[in-house]
Amino acid sequence: MSEKITFKNNQLQVPANPIIPFIEGDGVGKEIWQSAQTIFDKAVEKAYGNKRKVDWKQVLAGGKAFDQTGSWMPDETMDAFKTYLIGIKGPLMTPVGGGIRSLNVALRQELDLFVCLRPVRWFKGVETPVKHPEKVNMTIFRENTEDIYAGIEWMEGTDEAKKLYKFLHEEMGVTKVRFPETSSFGIKPVSIEGSERLVRAAIEYAIAQKAPSITLVHKGNIMKFTEGGFKQWAYALAERDFSDKLFTMNQYEKLKKSEGSEAADKALQAAKDAQKIIVKDVITDAFLQNTLLKPEDYSVIATLNLNGDYISDQLAAMVGGIGIAPGANINYATGHAIFEATHGTAPDIAGKNQANPSSLLLSGAMLFDYLGWFEVGQLIIKAMESLFQKGKATVDLARFMPDGQTLTTSQFTEEMVAHL
Ligand code: NAI
Repeated sequence: MSEKITFKNNQLQVPANPIIPFIEGDGVGKEIWQSAQTIFDKAVEKAYGNKRKVDWKQVLAGGKAFDQTGSWMPDETMDAFKTYLIGIKGPLMTPVGGGIRSLNVALRQELDLFVCLRPVRWFKGVETPVKHPEKVNMTIFRENTEDIYAGIEWMEGTDEAKKLYKFLHEEMGVTKVRFPETSSFGIKPVSIEGSERLVRAAIEYAIAQKAPSITLVHKGNIMKFTEGGFKQWAYALAERDFSDKLFTMNQYEKLKKSEGSEAADKALQAAKDAQKIIVKDVITDAFLQNTLLKPEDYSVIATLNLNGDYISDQLAAMVGGIGIAPGANINYATGHAIFEATHGTAPDIAGKNQANPSSLLLSGAMLFDYLGWFEVGQLIIKAMESLFQKGKATVDLARFMPDGQTLTTSQFTEEMVAHL
């Protein structure tokens, strides 16, 4: 009998037949969802026989929802994600015209999905712009609710912008606005709570995965209280709550100052010998350089919203995976999570049986990992690895492979099922 997934004592309780809502999505959504669901069900069957099975529950959003109900995001859809905790979605078209929030943003805000999780790895066979894509293996934890992306901004010339400037100038003594008459303004809130919950999630993930390091990526050298605060609070959290499992470069620097380099080096080596995870930090611009020069230095990344946006796409591009990158938005405190294809609706190829379902498939693999059904994700990834290695892929990838063999979406699905 199908049942709800619940969340008790900070843990997901997953029944053998969980109900999981899905949004098919617009454009290529229908094709890639059909492909993905077939592969998910086969992989679950392969892993657990008839002991486990997902009961997929279709909910509407986007253009399809609008056509059928007159609403881009019907209340039932939001309620389903609230009730069933975990969901998966294909791409949604953003309605043209003002006043309508992006549907993805609405979901994120309503469920307070504070982590945007983006794993980045290379699949052998996929063409990339870097020489050693196999060295790129990172998981990005991007803060999803704060920062300059909070949407608190005013256009130049409006009464609000004038009022804000007046306040800043007259009451806060601000003299640094270069062109006050024609400036727009944006506010960048970064809190201790917001930073800590993001960093805690990254740390717990790193511990569970036995990752070698966590890197805090920030621009605290310039934005001292927001990005600098993020770094400071992250180190404080790591040292306060996880001292038995982590060693921070903040501790290293303090030791170096008080007892000298030798003592600090010794402590670092001892931490490595004890297989503690090293927590370090790097300024964003240096990080972007380093990811090209020595990507092997990085594993789990924790960062703020804007940085995370840039970093996710650069890293995905480095492994040739921008079109197949998966993602998830998660609230680890309530269990709510939505897994998604990160590309758009691809209107140019919709209905042509050409779309690549890999982004949705890999986000499904993340979903199964999140449920603790690790075997399913493994099966999907292994099958995908062997197809790409043979040069078998949909046209978006196959056209760049030296001996690429182009498959339609349905052929790709059949091959995946055969390779499970
Ligand atoms: P897009 O990602 O839909 O398309 C960009 C290019 O990538 C196109 O050439 C397309 O054919 C190709 N492409 C995308 N997904 C593919 C797949 N699965 N297989 C093969 N090729 C694929 O971005 P675009 O054109 O900027 O946006 C179209 C619509 O999607 C817009 O309404 C936009 O707002 C929406 N969108 C939705 C997102 C979401 O729901 N997460 C993310 C990005 C855009």
